[in-house]
Amino acid sequence: NKRVKIKELLEKDYIGQEVTLMGWVRTKRSNKNVSFIALNDGSSITNFQIVADPNIINEELLKRATTGACLKIKGKIVASQGAGQQAELNAETIEVLGDADPEKYPLQPKKHSLEFLREIAHLRMRTNTFGAVFRVRHALAFAVHKYFNDKGFFYIHTPIITASDAEGAGETFKVTTLDLKKPPLNEDGSINFKEDFFERETNLTVSGQLEGELAAMGLADIYTFGPTFRAENSNTARHLAEFWMIEPEMAFYDAEDNQNLAEDFLKYVINYALENCKDDLEFLDKRAAEEENAKKADQRSELGLLERLRFVVENEFQRLTYTEAIDILKNSNHNKKKKFQYLVENWGVDLQSEHERYLVEKHFKKPVILTDYPKEIKAFYMRQNDDGKTVAAMDILFPGIGEIVGGSQREERLEKLTQRMEEMHIPTEEMWWYLDTRRFGSTPHAGFGLGFERLVLFVTGMGNIRDVIAFPRTPGHAEF
Ligand code: 4AD
Ligand code: MG
Repeated sequence: NKRVKIKELLEKDYIGQEVTLMGWVRTKRSNKNVSFIALNDGSSITNFQIVADPNIINEELLKRATTGACLKIKGKIVASQGAGQQAELNAETIEVLGDADPEKYPLQPKKHSLEFLREIAHLRMRTNTFGAVFRVRHALAFAVHKYFNDKGFFYIHTPIITASDAEGAGETFKVTTLDLKKPPLNEDGSINFKEDFFERETNLTVSGQLEGELAAMGLADIYTFGPTFRAENSNTARHLAEFWMIEPEMAFYDAEDNQNLAEDFLKYVINYALENCKDDLEFLDKRAAEEENAKKADQRSELGLLERLRFVVENEFQRLTYTEAIDILKNSNHNKKKKFQYLVENWGVDLQSEHERYLVEKHFKKPVILTDYPKEIKAFYMRQNDDGKTVAAMDILFPGIGEIVGGSQREERLEKLTQRMEEMHIPTEEMWWYLDTRRFGSTPHAGFGLGFERLVLFVTGMGNIRDVIAFPRTPGHAEF
């Protein structure tokens, strides 16, 4: 009598078969004649009903089957009498694998707030919401690999410890083996990194892009999918200090090819979740609707979660330049507000999230690809446009999320690149290996980075990025 998972029990007909189920008790209802245990084993949002007859199952044992306890149950699958389910398990033996003292177990069969569950992130995987979120997250990760594999891209593992700051934003976490209480010093009093493990200063990577570019210069179409780290002190619902990024990099692609790929890719992975995570997404759709209802009328989104996902898959993204976006903001009636005014009078400043939200949620009401940003607000590696003011950048903005993708065509011309690096005080000598790609067999190429948690946030309809990664790293939080 073999172990089955609840997902298999729901998908195939097991009636009449002897099986073993293992999982955690969600709820138990008992009367004199019978106990009903709702069991979940993580394979599905659906709990499976266990029917235990006190004449067969020892009552002391049944008492221990409290919410949170882990059980192994053997018995026969029978057609269910109750409404809403096809089958149930008539228990013949129950073994308690792990008790959960009801006086102490923090998860009770009631609605807990997400804030509370964040404090017990080590247990929250056992709730319906987090079970659904992490199954969807898995499906999206799988879809990412499937998409690129089917397109002939190669998965490159770029280093986590590096000596460069790809984005040049100075928001890196240092990596060192030096005793920081008494570090070895140079004569001038500065720290002597020659005595450090790598004999130089190193940090956790902020992006795999630069190494990705090196790989694309030999393998043509590559992608990375790894953890990235940013010590930006942004305590928002959209920022993590440790997040996962997907970064494709393609030789011979120009800015438009890059936009086409990004749009096609996003639609593919969202559609994959729609087709493969139906039960979980239906559950999350209801959860999101409850949350929407609690909001003020003018803050509610017009579409439900599933409608939003289908809309993105079925409609073209809006493409426009930064300068065109500024014109729209200039002529919007939001312009009267101070923050919008500041922006439109200062061509060249970065868009704030309220500008992005206006464009995506109020003006176009669909995903937007914003291109050709002023060079001053973008990274050194972006290809300079002929106007001398803008670069071939693209940001993709999603409703409810803001920036989900950042990318560009890269500067493939050695002279332009070194000139820009010098202007931006990026050490060209230290980055000789990067510049070598432009010295030898350089070619136009492009790529982008998708923040994986922002994608999961969009697809699950959760409101806070801390709730779509198992163990979030944010300022002041790295306990488990
Ligand atoms: O726009 P970013 O900084 O671009 C890069 O890192 C490029 N090297 C990517 C490339 O062209 N290969 O980051 C890319 C994306 C953002 O659009 C956002 O979705 C996500 O990464 N992101 C974050 N997600 C969570 N927490 C943070 N602190 C994030 N910072 C960026
Ligand atoms: Mg960006």
